Amino acid sequence: MKRHTTKKLLAGLLSTVLLGTSIPFAAVTAEDTATGNVIYSTDFESGDILFTGRDGIGTLSLSTAQAYSGSSSLYMTDRTKGWHGPQLLLDDICEPNKEYTVSAYAMTAWYNTIKLSIEYTDAAGERHYDNLSSGVSNGNWAEFSNIKFSFTDDVTNVYIYFECNDGADMYIDDFTLAEAPVIPIQEDIASLKDVYSGYFKIGTAIMASNLASPSFMDLVEKHFNESITFGNELKPDYVLDQAASQEKGNDVNPQVNFAQADALLKYCAEHKIPVRGHTLVWHSQTPDWFFKEGFSDDGAWVDKDTMLQRMENYIKNVMEGLATQYPDVEFYAWDVVNEAWTDNGTPREAGSSKSEDSNSSAWVRIFGDNSFIEPAFEYARKYAPAGCKLYYNDFNEYMPSKTTAIYDMAMDLKEKGLIDGIGMQSHLDVGFPTASAYRKALDKFASTGLDVQITELDITTSDTSETGLQNQAQLYSDIFDVYVDYADSISAVVIWGVTDDQSWRASRVPLLFDENFQAKPAFYSVIDDVEPKVTTTTTTGTTTTTTETTTTTTTDPDIILGDVDLDGIVRLNDLILLQKYLIRKETLNAEQGKAADMNQDDQINVVDIILWERLAIFTQNWDA
Ligand code: XIL
Repeated sequence: MKRHTTKKLLAGLLSTVLLGTSIPFAAVTAEDTATGNVIYSTDFESGDILFTGRDGIGTLSLSTAQAYSGSSSLYMTDRTKGWHGPQLLLDDICEPNKEYTVSAYAMTAWYNTIKLSIEYTDAAGERHYDNLSSGVSNGNWAEFSNIKFSFTDDVTNVYIYFECNDGADMYIDDFTLAEAPVIPIQEDIASLKDVYSGYFKIGTAIMASNLASPSFMDLVEKHFNESITFGNELKPDYVLDQAASQEKGNDVNPQVNFAQADALLKYCAEHKIPVRGHTLVWHSQTPDWFFKEGFSDDGAWVDKDTMLQRMENYIKNVMEGLATQYPDVEFYAWDVVNEAWTDNGTPREAGSSKSEDSNSSAWVRIFGDNSFIEPAFEYARKYAPAGCKLYYNDFNEYMPSKTTAIYDMAMDLKEKGLIDGIGMQSHLDVGFPTASAYRKALDKFASTGLDVQITELDITTSDTSETGLQNQAQLYSDIFDVYVDYADSISAVVIWGVTDDQSWRASRVPLLFDENFQAKPAFYSVIDDVEPKVTTTTTTGTTTTTTETTTTTTTDPDIILGDVDLDGIVRLNDLILLQKYLIRKETLNAEQGKAADMNQDDQINVVDIILWERLAIFTQNWDA
């Protein structure tokens, strides 16, 4: 059965107002995105210097040797390491859970990449450093313009700081902190999760810092609240507690805390959003000390037996800790093992997360091969909450040798009853792979009979022009067509982020919404032409049958043709709803779809609008 017609991108459709009826489209103007309320600003012309050297290192002064505006700037000398730089403590300037922007100019005399970053200390006392933006200076001013940041209320010692290569002197000028302007989301566009309701869940990945942006979270609620993955906060790097492990881990029992995941866990509990746990066993974002004697950075690598005990205890502590401390969070899925196979279908090289080759694996170093995968699933099965599904997750899963390696491993684990599904990360680019190459891999995974989840979908494009974004939209559309064809095997499609600026691949704008929370062509391309699918449950005696159907063209006696809002009267509101549906600003459910399909040809298009008008003229029913 064809459930989905191939989507075509209709360039400019949004601006085309059908039949002259004008439906206002709220575009974001330059004013909306301009700097909000300024809360701290300095041009370093005179007065006290609130900036300090990081960790007390370096000398700061006002200098007239360089100035972006006026006649002086902040000058930092006596740096010897890359991380030495000027910092500003924000605890008394900014509030938690609010979105801000920082703007500044920075300069070095010779070629240098200057980084603007934020530091904070979490509830467990650990310091964290996140890069916000980078600029290049070669004797000229690098501009940092309205860079967004925020922090949650469970962190302290929040600093904004600059850093660059070892030793270089640095100038900073015209530094401004402002409240980020609140740009509302488009309430009147279709909801992605509703469009795909009946096919698969729609979810996304968010980070703790996103919680402070009301519009960002509005997008999560509207489009993606069927599954949440934490971008980083449940990875071993974030969960493992070295001090506690050394203190009471007896060398085999790694201790964990959820300080960094806490705000996200509370959000998911409060909003009742099911969580995909990500991830337990991974070569990356896992500290080397986890694999070393005494849980110490400079200990010797432990043996396989010790590592098996550590693995079991780690999985146990994570699962039990979450279940007891966050009983209201539903973990419906866990990525048990992440990225264990190379594109050639072989295990990774033995290595460490600190080595130059970030592709190498400390797990392989200890086990000699990929034999750590099976025990990881055994322990996950033993300690995961009831009903929680267990996945193997990987990227480049469409590289043929990798597809085969994952398939073989999955079949083996399936026979042993240890695995429930395969996670296709799906970090794609407009240039690679094609939708048909991708389909092949999905087909192979679906043939295992296991569940498939699309766990980290994003599609990068280096061409950010209108044409580039249209090409990106086309691949998004083609890939979603593939998902619809395999909907019976796919339980969730998770996009790896919400707005481009917050993506891990921000410069190649891979997501469905832009930095102003507005839907991109890619968004419209994936909601276009999806036939509503309804799930009906009939109970006869003791038997319950669940049937999934797409809308059919059969005339339903209960439906009045043209009564699109199903209120029993055909009137102007119905025409407006129909028009909004066609410009993708509203969704229609299955029954509304039948009522809107005036010529019953199984498609809703401009012809239905013309027919609706004829009907209205004929019946003289123009009342609002
Ligand atoms: C990424 C995060 O999005 C980044 O913030 C972080 O710096 C690196 O990791 N495959 C995965 C994800 O399984 O965990 C990775 O997430 C992206 C690739």
